[in-house]
Parts: sequence; structure tokens; C-alpha cells
Amino acid sequence: MNKKLFIKTFGCAMNMRDSEHIITELQIKENYSITENAKEADLIIINTCSVREKPERKLFSEIGIYSNIKKQNAKIGICGCTASALGEKIIKKAPSVDFVLGARNVSKISKVISIPKAVEVATNYDESNYEFCISKDSSFRALINISIGCDKKCSYCIVPHTRGKEISIPLDMILKEAEFRAKNGAKEIILLGQNVNNYGARFSNHHRKVNFTNLLQEVSKIDGIQRIKFVSPHPLHMDDEFIEEFAYNKKISKYIHMPLQSGSNNVLKDMKRGYSKEWFLNRVEKIKKLVPNVGIGSDIIVAFPTESEDDFKDTLDVVKEVGFDTLYSFIYSPRENTSAFNLEEIPRDVALSRLETLQNLHREILKSKAKKEINNTHRVMIENVIDSIEGRSDNGRLIKIEGSKEVSLGEIYDVVITKNENGSLFGKIA
Ligand code: SAH
Ligand code: SF4
Ligand code: F3S
Repeated sequence: MNKKLFIKTFGCAMNMRDSEHIITELQIKENYSITENAKEADLIIINTCSVREKPERKLFSEIGIYSNIKKQNAKIGICGCTASALGEKIIKKAPSVDFVLGARNVSKISKVISIPKAVEVATNYDESNYEFCISKDSSFRALINISIGCDKKCSYCIVPHTRGKEISIPLDMILKEAEFRAKNGAKEIILLGQNVNNYGARFSNHHRKVNFTNLLQEVSKIDGIQRIKFVSPHPLHMDDEFIEEFAYNKKISKYIHMPLQSGSNNVLKDMKRGYSKEWFLNRVEKIKKLVPNVGIGSDIIVAFPTESEDDFKDTLDVVKEVGFDTLYSFIYSPRENTSAFNLEEIPRDVALSRLETLQNLHREILKSKAKKEINNTHRVMIENVIDSIEGRSDNGRLIKIEGSKEVSLGEIYDVVITKNENGSLFGKIA
């Protein structure tokens, strides 16, 4: 009998990728099909994120909601980073949960669904050599893991605790998966890892020496792949070789995520980021020189416990200087099992006001950038055709396409920018 799976995914692209694995394994091995309606599901899975406190806190109210609406014998499973962080505490606090499967244990999904109250959360489990079932669904985009875990010890971040040590996936496995996905219609590949450009630093078995630049070169040889993206690279590992490959390889999207976190050297040091503001700006300068039209995105944390007003001003200065095209900004959230956890927090009103100042500044930057886009032509890959037609330029700008022309997902068109509304771009197919 066909069983139904409802899955809700929080967090980053790695979690999206893990959910894809879970879905595919359960479809192929356990005869599940997906439902969007939790009430009719035989299995409800929440794939969680614990990078900030709020999503973690919300988990228990989510579990409460699903426990109340689920079919009588339906199971509830908690996966992802909060599963790793809290383990069996989840079942103790919410007895309606049937299993807990940590972020680094996704390949055990078929096993845990049949073990009552299973808790599989080891963060030293090695999934790097595990061949996952590969989705046969034809999607224009393929998310491909290239490494698991993270070896950095940024003082605010829980990820090393939830995903364990960094291990790279063997090159041949990555290429095999990318080739398979390309044959099944993938036009865009997104390479995933917490520090993608540290690829090759450690394998679990003997492997020839290879780095991220070599991997990019190999992936770009695959026929059918038109755009290669990657997330997240670390500014510390942006050496000249990598930047040159990024600049000159035509298949690589000219958008780069450069997570700054703070523009103050004092705070960067306290965050244990391993680079200075000068290094960061030097890398930006080199990238902009080689790719004048590059799109640059970033993540910034405001109100880290040791951040003074002057430190915060340094961050604003870097934001102005770089002119980020995309910015994800967060208020520092203390996480247990991180080295910054016991530091005294900055008052909430100060944190909120810094966040607002930063976001207002960024909004102004985007508005002035968007004005300059009118009449520019971009190569746009279509990413959405359902509610509206949207796509992304090679340098990562989201463009809404007007006019009734028939388009399909994953196709690339020349689009002329016709309008800018508050920083959002609109265009017509040329
Ligand atoms: N590996 C990536 C980050 C993954 S976490 C990198 O190094 O860039 C995604 C983002 O969440 C981080 O870049 C950071 O900006 C934010 N973040 C992580 N821990 C946080 C915390 N404790 N409080 C607030 N934001 C946090
Ligand atoms: Fe977290 Fe730092 Fe690792 Fe990124 S590099 S996942 S911020 S510890
Ligand atoms: Fe969240 Fe884990 Fe990703 S904490 S951001 S789901 S690595």
C-alpha cells in the first residue's frame, strides 16, 4: 500500500538537500509518496535548524500542532540540527515523537522509521562515502553535497556541534551524481558545504590531492550543466587560484556569497573568524577587478556580545564600501555548546536598533543599484513559472519577467531591465 509522507524543512540549503535524500530514500525503498497535507500523512517529518534560538524554541509548538492533527497511527520524526543538538531530550519533552535522526545520519532514515523511539544523532558518523538514492525527478536544479560538517570554531556557531567534523566527499562520487543529474535535466548545479572552498582538506579514506578549484574545473566539463553555484565559501579560503577560476570559468555563476559576519577586527577576532577586515576587502577588490559586474552577498551578525558602537560603525563602513547585492542580517543569538555562550548579551533594544540601521542602509544601497540597471541586458535562468515568471541573472539578481511569452524552467533568456520598484527589478525577454 502506498504510504504518505509530509515533510517540513527549515534552515539552510544543506537541510533542503537532506530532505531531498529522505524523500527519495522513502519513495524508492519504502513506497512513500509526498503529501502537502499533514492530516493525511502516515509519516510527518520536521527537518530542523538550530542556528538561532527562535527556530529551536518553535520546534516544540510545531510538534504540538502536528500531534493534534495527525492520523491516529501516523508517526512523527524529528531530523536535522536540532535533532543533533537535543537528541533524546526531544522525546522526553514531546513523547508523541517516534524517532530523532540527527543531521549527519540521514542515510539511516529507512532504518529508524521501524524502530520505536529510535535516536540516531552521532556527529562522528561518516556519511561521506554513502551513495544516496539519487532522485530521478527531473529538476532544472541539482543540490549536491561536496562536504559534510565543519572544522571551524566560530565562537557563536552551533553547526560544528550539530554536524561534526568536516569530511569531503570523494571527487568521483560528486561527479557521478552531477553527471546523473545533468542527464536527467539539471541545468544548474549548486555545490553544498559549510566551507565549500576548503574542499579536499580531509577525506575519510585515501584520496588523491584535490582542492575546490580542481572540483569546479571537473564539474564544469559535464555536458548540459549551464550554471554552477556554490554555498557557502569562507572568505579565509578565497585564495588567488580560486578567485581566478571563479572569474574565468564561464559556467560559474558570477555571484559569490562572502559571509562577513562583522566589519570590526576586534569582533572578527572574538568571533574566531580567522580573517581581518583588510583581508576581506582585499578579496572583494580582487574579485571586483576580475569580474566588474559581480554580485556579492553576505551574512552579518549584529550585537555580538563584545560589539561596541564603534565596532558596529566599522561593519556599516564595510557594507558601504562593498555595496553587497544581497545581505542576510541577524541579531546574535547565544547557543549552548559554543564558546561565546556565556558572554553577557547586549541589551535587546540596542541590538534591534543596530539591526534596523544596518537593514535601512542596505535597502538604500539596493535602491541606488537598481536604478542603474534600467536598460541593462542580463542572461536570466528561469526559476519560477508558477505564480509569476521569475529568474536570476548570472550575477544573482532576481528579475521578475513581464509579458506573456512561453518560458520553461531552467531555460536561459536575454532579458532587458525595464523597471525598478523599490529595489526589485522587472524585465522583458529581448
Ligand atoms: N558556514 C557558513 C554559515 C552557516 S550558518 C559560514 O561560515 O558562512 C548561516 C549564518 O547564520 C551565518 O553566516 C551567521 O551569519 C548566522 N549565524 C550563525 N550562528 C549564529 C548565531 N549564534 N546568532 C546569529 N546568527 C548566527
Ligand atoms: Fe559555523 Fe563558522 Fe563553520 Fe560557518 S565556518 S558553519 S559560521 S563554525
Ligand atoms: Fe541550520 Fe544546521 Fe543549516 S543549524 S543553518 S540547518 S547547518
